[in-house]
Amino acid sequence: MLLPVLILTVVRSIFAQDLDILQNSQLLNNDGGGVIGWEYPQEQRSQSDFLVDATQAEPYFLDWKYHNYDSMTRYLRKTTSTFPNLTALYSIGKSVQGRELWVMVVSTSPYEHMIGKPDVKYVSNMHGNEVVSRELMLHLIHYLVTNYNKDHYVKWLLDNTRIHIMPSMNPDGYEVAKEGVCDGGQGRYNARGFDLNRNFPDYFKQNNRKPQPETEAVKEWLSKIQFVLSGNLHGGALVASYPFDNTPNSLFQSYSSYPSLSPDDDVFKHLALTYSTNHAKMSRGVACKSSMPGFSKGITNGAAWYPLTGGMQDFNYIWYGCMEVTLELSCCKYPPANELPTYWADNKLALIKFLGEVHRGVRGFVMDENGNPVEKASLKIKKRDVGFQTTKYGEFWRILLPGVYVLEVYADGFVPRDLEFAVVEDHPTLLNVTLRPAKFGEHYNRPVTSPPLSMIPPIPQKTTTTKPTISGDESIYFPKD
Ligand SMILES: *[C@@H]1O[C@H](CO)[C@@H](O)[C@H](O)[C@H]1NC(C)=O
Ligand SMILES: *[C@@H]1O[C@H](CO)[C@@H](O)[C@H](O)[C@H]1NC(C)=O
Repeated sequence: MLLPVLILTVVRSIFAQDLDILQNSQLLNNDGGGVIGWEYPQEQRSQSDFLVDATQAEPYFLDWKYHNYDSMTRYLRKTTSTFPNLTALYSIGKSVQGRELWVMVVSTSPYEHMIGKPDVKYVSNMHGNEVVSRELMLHLIHYLVTNYNKDHYVKWLLDNTRIHIMPSMNPDGYEVAKEGVCDGGQGRYNARGFDLNRNFPDYFKQNNRKPQPETEAVKEWLSKIQFVLSGNLHGGALVASYPFDNTPNSLFQSYSSYPSLSPDDDVFKHLALTYSTNHAKMSRGVACKSSMPGFSKGITNGAAWYPLTGGMQDFNYIWYGCMEVTLELSCCKYPPANELPTYWADNKLALIKFLGEVHRGVRGFVMDENGNPVEKASLKIKKRDVGFQTTKYGEFWRILLPGVYVLEVYADGFVPRDLEFAVVEDHPTLLNVTLRPAKFGEHYNRPVTSPPLSMIPPIPQKTTTTKPTISGDESIYFPKD
């Protein structure tokens, strides 16, 4: 009986404005996984408090060991209570076994999108037995919040970016994985045996695998927040791998691997290199084992390594224009905990520098003649036929290397526009676009992008559950129904 009360109390205070949603939420009736073992003192159960726990007197501290679901949850809660101005914790849904898919936002605006400023993310541990990055995410959170007042770059990053960190997309798999086991599949899959990095809609091939709760939650999340840059963190190799993961060429696929290059190949290479060259070892490109390939400069095109259907990075890029790179951080999938400090030292700079790359390229607003935002305008950079869209505030972002480009802007009911602009190295180019309404009888065709919008299957919208949401952030408001 105690458990539902505890969950309500913890969640209600964080998401106070959504109490009505929570009253009906499955959270309150669910005995699975949630916050087992979470001790919550009676006398602190007031609505106003989310300065959670009995351990408040303890210093804010993260040890060098692995954190299972319960201890990870405790650490994340401890973080929001210690740094309420820099962090917020939300869940995008539940795993098969009912564990929350936690996301921690680290930013000076943790509860609200900052209009004009980009949202970025790291998603870790979608293969439950690839665990180094899961711990590195906790240490990254720790580093960011404790260095905000000490490090100019960290301050600048948190002032100008919302960083969403999901330490584990597969918390069920993690619980059955074993420390010290470097290879193999124990814990890789979700609790129903599905590989989550083969479970997304695919542009090149039909993906008939049954969608899983963890992937459904991520798809819904991506539809609510327009992420501009993302890292998808794995283990079992040491390389930064970029789209495309899949290839239209099925004939030769099983015999050998060919690169499958996207129109933003220059940008993806740059992002992958940003990671590998800021990593202590990755850019050396040394193979993990003699049976595995080495990677020049520590980067590879995904399909050139091996093609796969239903991966998360292609989905991010094609469906939402989010530049996602797959970062493989350790040859051993689950190394002994005493190696964690070395992994952190090797990756710290790379993890932080990679996120800063979101402040490169072009950004701005699409507005009508009265200055009202135009939502869902279709945008593309000429000769780069993967499109992207404006947000409800009319915002857009696109990471580009220095050069001269043409932005093509189309919105229903308006005259389309092409705008030339330049991108420089030092700062993002600001580009505001005003659209004139189309006159009666004028007709314009939506520009063709690849994939054409008509080919993109609709993302199934979940209607069965309500979820906690960050109050004030309408972009991740999950309506009650
Ligand atoms: C948090 O921000 C508020 C408003 O800016 C400020 O008054 C308060 O002192 C800050 N608290 C901490 C712990 O920094
Ligand atoms: C672009 O539009 C935004 C939103 O209306 C505005 O805040 C900003 O000042 C504009 N920037 C420029 C360079 O015109």
